[in-house]
Amino acid sequence: MTQERVALFSHEVVGPPAPNKQRPRIRLSRNGPYLVAVDDLSNSKGERLEGRHGVALCRCGASNSKPFCDSSHIRTGFSDERCPDHTPDRVVDYPGAAMVVSQPGPSDAIAPSIRIARNGPYEVQGFDLDTENWSEGASRERFTLCRCGGSKNKPFCDGTHRSIKFQDDSN
Ligand code: FES
Repeated sequence: MTQERVALFSHEVVGPPAPNKQRPRIRLSRNGPYLVAVDDLSNSKGERLEGRHGVALCRCGASNSKPFCDSSHIRTGFSDERCPDHTPDRVVDYPGAAMVVSQPGPSDAIAPSIRIARNGPYEVQGFDLDTENWSEGASRERFTLCRCGGSKNKPFCDGTHRSIKFQDDSN
């Protein structure tokens, strides 16, 4: 069993159990990774990564096995708290920002996928997300999730990866 799969099943999951429905779901482990089963997972180089059977995706930014969790969040004391002075999603200034603004269209027309932005967030579409932190007007069809660990608006990316010069040469 791979390290990321060990992490997937050993974390406390935040929020209620997932309802029984077709749409896939991203779950958040408390102060730990994103937990998800995803067929279409790729990095910024266009490489497909295996996620179909369930993976734990790093969101503290410290994993040595990015994008997968290696439990570094424990060592670093990562907190998934959203800061009270977080930046509203709508005014974020970075290339993926448009993905968090409401977009029309039927939800069943979007194939679930997760793309890893270069030195930036997870670009997600077609998944439900277990969080209460949605901002008014934010799209629930396409959104970006922080993977640098520095966002003030967790679990969403707020562009902080730029200012902290988050780097992931592998993806
Ligand atoms: S990836 Fe963390 S703020 Fe963008």
